[in-house]
Amino acid sequence: MKKFYVTTPIYYASGKIHIGHAYCSILADTMARYKKLCGYDVFFLTGSDEHGQKIAQKALENNMKPQEYVDSIVKGFKENWEALKIDYSKFIRTTDASHVECVQKVFEYLLKNGDIYKSYYDGWYCTPCESFWTDHQVGENHICPDCGREVHRDKEECYFLNVKKYVPQLMEFYKLHPEFVPDGKFDEMYNNFIKPGLEDLSITRTSFDWGVSVKSDPKHVVYVWIDALLNYISALGFNSSDDSLFKKYWSKDVEILQYAGREINRFHSIYWPIILFALNIRLPDTIYVHGLLITRSGVKMSKSLGNAPSPLPLIERYSVDALRYYSVTEIQTGEDGQFTPNQFVDRINADLVNNYGNLVNRTLGMLQKYRNFKIPAKKKLIKQETIIANEKISEHIKLYFEHFNSYHISKAMHEVCLIGDIANKYIDETAPWVLAKDESRSAELDEVLATIADVVKCMSIMFKPVLVTKADKVLDALKVAADDRNHLNICLSNYCDNKEVSLIEPLFPRLKREDEVEFLVGMIDN
Ligand code: ME8
Ligand code: MG
Repeated sequence: MKKFYVTTPIYYASGKIHIGHAYCSILADTMARYKKLCGYDVFFLTGSDEHGQKIAQKALENNMKPQEYVDSIVKGFKENWEALKIDYSKFIRTTDASHVECVQKVFEYLLKNGDIYKSYYDGWYCTPCESFWTDHQVGENHICPDCGREVHRDKEECYFLNVKKYVPQLMEFYKLHPEFVPDGKFDEMYNNFIKPGLEDLSITRTSFDWGVSVKSDPKHVVYVWIDALLNYISALGFNSSDDSLFKKYWSKDVEILQYAGREINRFHSIYWPIILFALNIRLPDTIYVHGLLITRSGVKMSKSLGNAPSPLPLIERYSVDALRYYSVTEIQTGEDGQFTPNQFVDRINADLVNNYGNLVNRTLGMLQKYRNFKIPAKKKLIKQETIIANEKISEHIKLYFEHFNSYHISKAMHEVCLIGDIANKYIDETAPWVLAKDESRSAELDEVLATIADVVKCMSIMFKPVLVTKADKVLDALKVAADDRNHLNICLSNYCDNKEVSLIEPLFPRLKREDEVEFLVGMIDN
């Protein structure tokens, strides 16, 4: 069986989940579901990043012990993932004893091998980003290049990761695997960080203690990023007494996809590969760097800026399917995407109400009206319109797979909508209501109804990775058996005829612009 391992970043346990985090988890969940439908053995990891100075500070502000604080935050993460139907295989926490042990072992191993050495750090530190910067990077005003906040000067004894040593190996790897960080997202990293000369990375702190302590030198705490990145393999039991998951999902024959937002590209496409080189284990196939959701005023939505809405009220008002659909379609590959009320309304109305929802209702309605709920049997095609529609649709089905296989979910969803357009147009052209009036054209009507039922079934299966509740409702109404809907073996002729369909409520109510814009603006406009 082909295997697929997909990960999200582990989000900082320093605040509530917002639609930005939701976006990334929805992407990963959608890919996991798609691969399952393609017959893969899938492992999907998400989790929480719980150490570091920022989180210790937050706990203090809340009059809580750090562990107590992160426990409460993680509870909220899990509630959100449940509401969003994020069907992960494992939720890793960096405070898990097994993770802590893994980080400590890896540290000692790299120390022994000379990939970690002790020295002094003298430079700039941004606490909210948990990032070190050079004089040049912070400029005269001492501003963090990532978040624009003030950094502070820091000088202390610390351990360093021997990064420089691995730069040639990294460059060699990229030359051989240009698709490792797709859509040119590595070029930026090369120009900004590698070309000017990559410095060894400071990887411990002595100024706070909320973190994984170094076994052989306990006044040092491991820098959050090293701690955090190791989650991707500690979760699989790397270096532990039970490493069966690691052997299974981090082996050469697994397709490994790791999502990261563009602000943490540097850690995933430079430092993470270098850690893996030092450990002498394989690299993931793909680091998929996604764009960020920004507000209408062009600012990144972020936990620390407090300008991003929670997904929960959106789910309540619009359904989990609508929010998932909007998320995966609105942001184009790697670009930033503005969350705007008008676009939200337009997207839902155009694709889910007018296109898919309308087709479902027309199809079920006509089956009820003209054939007493029964889908006619498919015979040899007699109508030119059907032959043409089938051909076009098959082409879009092919493209759907191509896009999904290159992780371009929004493009794959677009193909499904194009199929809906073809089917809606096909109905208008063949005018079943005209055929129904003429008994001698009954075979033609059968063909049209059987065809659109088939199209609705195909579209619903293709939508399944995103529309996690409604697609199945439609498949239920069409009486498609579990076996027939749980794999993506889609074509237009494999549908069993003579099924008796049932009617369903409209899938997605049409959104009234004024009302929804008002509601959405109230949630996001800051
Ligand atoms: O960086 N739009 O955690 P984090 C889209 N703990 N996605 C967004 C987003 C936005 N406005 N805001 C956040 C960390 N995200 C580290 C990661 S991994 C070893 C350690 C998503 O809580 C996006 O995927 O700041 C981003 O990379 C991630 O949340 C960062 O979450
Ligand atoms: Mg962040």
